Amino acid sequence: MPNRSEFLTATGAAAAAPAAILDRGVKPVVIASSNGNRFKNGGTQTAVERAFVGITRGDDVLDALIAGVNIVELDPLDDSVGYGGLPNADGVVQLDASCMHGPKHRAGAVGALEGVRTPSLVAKAVMEQTDHVLLVGRGAQEFARDVGFTTEPDLNTAHSRALWLEWKRRTDPDHYLDPAKRALVGARAGESMIRDGLVDVAHYWGTINCDGINARGDLCGVTTTSGLAWKIPGRVGDSPIIGAGLYVDNEVGAAGSTGRGEANLYGVNSMFIVERMRAGRHPKDAAMDALRRVRSQTIERRLLNSRGNPRFGLQFYALDKRGRFAGVSLYRVGEGYALCDENGPRSVAFDHLLEGAPFD
Ligand code: GLY
Repeated sequence: MPNRSEFLTATGAAAAAPAAILDRGVKPVVIASSNGNRFKNGGTQTAVERAFVGITRGDDVLDALIAGVNIVELDPLDDSVGYGGLPNADGVVQLDASCMHGPKHRAGAVGALEGVRTPSLVAKAVMEQTDHVLLVGRGAQEFARDVGFTTEPDLNTAHSRALWLEWKRRTDPDHYLDPAKRALVGARAGESMIRDGLVDVAHYWGTINCDGINARGDLCGVTTTSGLAWKIPGRVGDSPIIGAGLYVDNEVGAAGSTGRGEANLYGVNSMFIVERMRAGRHPKDAAMDALRRVRSQTIERRLLNSRGNPRFGLQFYALDKRGRFAGVSLYRVGEGYALCDENGPRSVAFDHLLEGAPFD
């Protein structure tokens, strides 16, 4: 890993440092889910690094964050986001995304969007070019086409399609016929593929959330995902729901999530975390409060493992107005969350709430 001055010089952030890093005493920082610090095949910058460089050279914070997550959306090797994301039960890739601009107090989002590799940019277009906050399905795609996005018939890669076919093979033949059994059978087939090492648990509900602050203390955030693997077509998770998968208040902080969206939608926890920070909690304590709340609200048997704990993964990321931050997870995860500051991009271990694993 480069040292601080090597990183600042190599990225060009050094030139911006006097003005952009020291202004008002806030140190710019970008945090993201684990995939924010992975290299795209052949690429030279990770998402958090790209975002940090943009912020420190004076780009709009949201533009910088979106340029960062675009790297992951376009990466065919990341099957949790954008192009090559794991498809729905019909084999169709449907994408969700949201963005929030702290200083402008504006938000945009898309749900169940097909055919556009970078849904985060469509969410930003909804924010900037419409009087709405959330567009879904065919309307979202038609809007994207109208404002100039290229749409494609299929965002699967050979990898995402092969995994979908394996999931179909493992799914009970009445998967599509018995509404009472459908979700459970589909979920158990998904779990068996995680156990067999075909799908990383982080990619089953995989997503990227990315939040950043500049030297003026301006905060923005973006969350983008292909959602739950093999979901019922039309299912929208927490990522595009303002307050759930993302929330930014420029006076307080930003928070976002990855993991099982249904568990987060119930409590709109990104907003909850920001409100806890407003009340004075450190980002880590605020985010852990949200995890504890999710755990106590999870009472359905089908959602509990043999220890009586949630049978799913969920992570929160929180960043406050002072530039303090945290990444927390229900369970220990192998790869830390992504961070980039003046010392360069790196991974930082999550604080976790529960021992063991979701399917124990
Ligand atoms: N958190 C991503 C999803 O559940 O769709």
